[in-house]
Amino acid sequence: MNNSESHPGENQTISPGFILVGFSYLNELQILLFLLLLLIYLLTLMGNLLVILLIKLNPSLHTPMYFFLVNLSFLEMCFTSSVVPQLLVHLLVEEKTISLVGCAAQMYVYSIMGLTECCLLAAMAYDRYVAICHPLHYTTIMSGRVCAELAGASWLISITVEIVPTVWIFSLPFCGSYCIHHFFCDIPPVLKMVCADTSNIRIVGFIVTGLFVINPFLLILLSYVRIISTILKLPSAEGRRKAFSTCSSHLTVVTFFYGTALITYLVPKSDSTKESDQMISLMNTIVAPLLNPLIYTLRNKEVKGAMRKAVVKSIFAHSR
Ligand SMILES: *[C@@H]1O[C@H](CO)[C@@H](O)[C@H](O)[C@H]1NC(C)=O
Repeated sequence: MNNSESHPGENQTISPGFILVGFSYLNELQILLFLLLLLIYLLTLMGNLLVILLIKLNPSLHTPMYFFLVNLSFLEMCFTSSVVPQLLVHLLVEEKTISLVGCAAQMYVYSIMGLTECCLLAAMAYDRYVAICHPLHYTTIMSGRVCAELAGASWLISITVEIVPTVWIFSLPFCGSYCIHHFFCDIPPVLKMVCADTSNIRIVGFIVTGLFVINPFLLILLSYVRIISTILKLPSAEGRRKAFSTCSSHLTVVTFFYGTALITYLVPKSDSTKESDQMISLMNTIVAPLLNPLIYTLRNKEVKGAMRKAVVKSIFAHSR
């Protein structure tokens, strides 16, 4: 240990937790943000539940694509729930504290969801690739077992892998003001609180990101290169339009999720403000989970049809 790394003893006493500064700079406007986020949160839960119910209750939607969509909707609910309830409370109270254990738990759950989402989106891209490029073998390749295994692997990998950075970061000493300039315990802002050498953790972070975030992204990219080149070779315009419509929802979801995630984590921080960082992070953790069910229901004829049927059924049931 050299001298420049040691800090005054009083700063290294065990802290009761962190302060999540978050949106404090909004002052009175925090109540407006509270109302807006509460609305978005409730809509997200309802929208995703609706998607799950529609698919579960509709035998015509029991295909691999919708199996993954159910899993994705469930994931979105967990994803946004790992951040929003805590944030809502913090928007109302003066003391925006979070205990160390709470912070670690939030970081763990949030990173699991992020990683699983990347893997699930890749599995969904693969599903579209097989459906469009190998339609004759689709049912044999994407059997129920394969789908369950792909989804299960996405969850299992993330749950296992994320133990490492979480336990590692929280075994290091924290010091300084204990103020996190973010609205939840994400890895980069918490890492800034560590007063020890973090270069090894960063290397592990790069490896995890490369394996389970960039790899799925490349897989998605590759799938779409193959999908698009196959679609372009289709003889009829009608066939091209039909084939593309089955993957346009997925493509929209992927673009939004990866777009905001890449801006949040990969764009150099030097020329961005904390406020704009938080806004983009808000898009990724709060707006994306709301958009996904909307995109899939509004752009998708089958889901819309299932919804219409359900509505008609319930109207008839009531009018008897
Ligand atoms: C998601 O997939 C996993 C693995 O196949 C399964 O165990 C889980 O029940 C699924 N979740 C939902 C909500 O369908």
